[in-house]
Amino acid sequence: KGYFTYDPGFVSTASCESKITYIDGEKGVLLHRGYPIEVLADKSDYLETCYLLLHGELPSQSEYEEFVGIITNHTMVHESISRFFRGFHYDSHPMAMMCGIVGALSAFYHDSLDISNARHRIISAHRLIAKVPTLAAMCYKHSQGQPFMYPNNSLSYSENFLHMMFGTPCNDPDVSPVLANAMDKIFLLHADHEQNASTSTVRLAGSSGANPFACIAAGIATLWGPAHGGANEAVLNMLEEIGDEKNIDKFVARAKDKDDPFRLMGFGHRVYKNFDPRSKVMKKVCDEVLSELGLEDDPLLRIAKRLEQIALEDEYFIQKKLYPNVDFYSGIIMKAIGIPKDMFTVIFATGRTVGWIAHWHEMITDGYKIGRPRQLYTGAPIREFPERDSRK
Ligand code: CMC
Repeated sequence: KGYFTYDPGFVSTASCESKITYIDGEKGVLLHRGYPIEVLADKSDYLETCYLLLHGELPSQSEYEEFVGIITNHTMVHESISRFFRGFHYDSHPMAMMCGIVGALSAFYHDSLDISNARHRIISAHRLIAKVPTLAAMCYKHSQGQPFMYPNNSLSYSENFLHMMFGTPCNDPDVSPVLANAMDKIFLLHADHEQNASTSTVRLAGSSGANPFACIAAGIATLWGPAHGGANEAVLNMLEEIGDEKNIDKFVARAKDKDDPFRLMGFGHRVYKNFDPRSKVMKKVCDEVLSELGLEDDPLLRIAKRLEQIALEDEYFIQKKLYPNVDFYSGIIMKAIGIPKDMFTVIFATGRTVGWIAHWHEMITDGYKIGRPRQLYTGAPIREFPERDSRK
């Protein structure tokens, strides 16, 4: 039609060139800067993967130590931020708080406004990677009415996150290495996924020259939708709706019924049609966490394990390639760790922050045009303006 390619949902339009992430959905391949995600999950850790995404190469030992040191030194947030939190009602959705607070960081770091300065861009990236977990944990503490916990710089990135989430000034237990490893893997497996809706939003916002904190806030807002980052929360809602193992067959039958719109949340994937390399890693971590916490008998988690078994054995699910996806396992892991379901998308956002900022940095560094999609106009043609007293 006309002069433009009509492509709703941008399913066949490449909006940019990028060297960061490669996906082959048919073959189940996800590469960051050329390294397979399963290899990174096995041999690397979240912060090293952040360095790789941001800088393009794996760090040497000294570069790694320097990077970890920089991120660790940026984990605190300005004291005024805690006053911001107090303005939110106690039952505010944590993603609502995250959209506002992350955008507000640009009010504290004026150097972030100078996006033409490469040094300032990298400092903003470091601040975001370091501070988003602190802010995420503050959202949780605010909802619980508990005091905010300051970051502890002697802990690793993931240990520190669990410390800020579950520690209190009167009881700050050591973080289990199995749970810290699970958190690290959740962050790492969510670190980037090329031009998904939130990353494309960050690029589009950035293409106007907006500052990085404002762009990431736009990404967080986009991730909030149930069709994007909200799926892991939907998994938990579904498990609660099933409620009892005796109801599983009924729900599975509904999922197979062509006339019933019900779908099993956490199963299937739009891009990965054979398998999602991330869910293999997540499944292993999930088994480790459940056994560490002795939660194999938790009623909700038993429903989840039974559903997993059905999906892996039942002809309908095998034929349609509806294996459990990354959100299925991450939802179960976070539930087992004790993270409430309205925090799940916040944790996705925490891991994805590096992907967003890496794409923003790449775009600003490589040069860009302001994003300006066209439209097919379907409204009224030009017409006469009728005087008000002549209108019906
Ligand atoms: N339960 C039951 N049947 C399903 C499901 C499901 N979860 N997913 C797809 N199907 C069926 C669907 O009814 C269709 O059957 P038929 O061929 O008889 O019409 C067939 O499988 C293909 O479905 P589709 O909608 O054409 O597949 P899609 O690639 O467009 O959808 C999906 C992919 C993820 C949207 C879909 O599988 C789904 O809705 N899953 C549940 C929600 C979910 O877990 N989302 C998170 C995805 S992972 C996100 C991430 O990577 O971050």
